[in-house]
Amino acid sequence: MKTAVFSARPYDRRFLDEANARDHAGQGFELAYFDAALDATTAGLAQGFDAVCVFVNDRLDAPVLRALHGLGVRAILLRCAGFNNVDLVAAAELGLLVARVPAYSPEAVAEHALALVMTLNRQTHRAYNRVREGNFMLDGLLGRTLHGKTVGIVGTGKIGLATARIFNGMGCTVLGNDPYPSPEFSAVGHYVALEELLARSDIVSLHCPLTPQTHHLINEESLGLMKPGAMLINTSRGALVNTDAVVRALKSRHLGHLAIDVYEQESALFFQDLSGEIIDDDLFQRLMTFPNVLVTGHQGFFTVEALQEICSITLRNLCDFASGAECQNRVVAA
Ligand code: NAI
Repeated sequence: MKTAVFSARPYDRRFLDEANARDHAGQGFELAYFDAALDATTAGLAQGFDAVCVFVNDRLDAPVLRALHGLGVRAILLRCAGFNNVDLVAAAELGLLVARVPAYSPEAVAEHALALVMTLNRQTHRAYNRVREGNFMLDGLLGRTLHGKTVGIVGTGKIGLATARIFNGMGCTVLGNDPYPSPEFSAVGHYVALEELLARSDIVSLHCPLTPQTHHLINEESLGLMKPGAMLINTSRGALVNTDAVVRALKSRHLGHLAIDVYEQESALFFQDLSGEIIDDDLFQRLMTFPNVLVTGHQGFFTVEALQEICSITLRNLCDFASGAECQNRVVAA
C-alpha cells in the first residue's frame, strides 16, 4: 500500500513513522514524503501511489481529484478534522475514499484559544520583549480581569465544548450558539441566538466548521452587533471571517482585539518560512500593523499528544482502506 504524503513537514514524518512502526509493524505501509502542497501542479507526484495523505491547505478540488484518480489513487487521507478543502461530490463520483481524523485532543485547540486570549489581554508578548530590554514600565500593558466576563462560543462541538469548560472554570459566563445543542455544553453554559451571543459577549470564540452557511459568518453586520471593545478569536477556519470587514472594525475602534490562528488566504503563507521574502498579501500585512491583533500560523493542533493521535488515526484509516474494511472516519457529501 503506497501512500504519498503531501505538505510533509519534519514533524509529520517523525510522528507518522513512529505510528507506522508502533501500530503497524510488519504491515509494510510505504510512506513517501513530499514537501510540496497538493494542487493541480503537483498532483503528478502521486503517480504510482494508492493513496494520498494531505493536510488543511492541500487543494482537492474536482480537477485535482480527477487527476489523482487517473493516476490510480483511490483514497484521500486527511491528517485533520476539517474537510472544506475536498470536493466531496466529485470524490464520491470517482469512488474515492475520503477519511479524516474527526477528533484528536480537542483540548489542544481549546488551550491555544485560551493562550491567544491571555496573550492579547495581558500583553505578555510585549512584556516579554520589554523585560528582556530592561524596560520594566507597565504603561500599555493594562488588561482586564477575565473572571466574571462573558465568553460566546460559536459551535459547541468537541473544541467549542473544551473551550467552554476552560472559561467556565475561570469564572466566566459562557454563552453558546449551535444548530445542534448538546447537554454537555448546557452543563457549563447557556444557549442563545447568535445575535444575542454577539451582543453580550466580551470575547467571541469561533469553533464551527467552514461550510457554505458559515462562510463569512463574521462580517460587517455581525461585527456591528458585537460589544464595542470586544475580542474576536478564530481558531477554526479563516473564511469564517471576512478579513476586510474585520480590518474596518479595528480601524473604527469598534473591535477591541483580534486573535486568529487561521486566515482566509493562509495557504499562500502558513507552514512556510517567508522571513526573507516580500509578502504580497496587503490585507495580511495591514493586520500585522495593529497592536491589538495577534496571529499564529495554524498551530492550534500542534501538540505532541495531538500529533500522535492524528498519525495513529490516519494510519488506522489507511489500514481500513487497505483491508477493505468499513472506515468509520469516512467523510461523505451531506
Ligand atoms: P465538531 O464537529 O465537533 O463541532 C463543530 C460544531 O459546530 C458542531 O456542534 C456543529 O453543530 C456546529 N455548527 C455547525 N454549523 C454551525 C453554525 N452555523 N453556527 C454555529 N455552530 C455550528 O468539530 P470540532 O472538532 O470542534 O472542530 C471545529 C473546527 O475547528 C473544525 O471544523 C476545524 O475547522 C477547526 N480546527 C482547527 C484546528 C487548528 O489547528 N486551529 C485544529 C482542529 C480543528
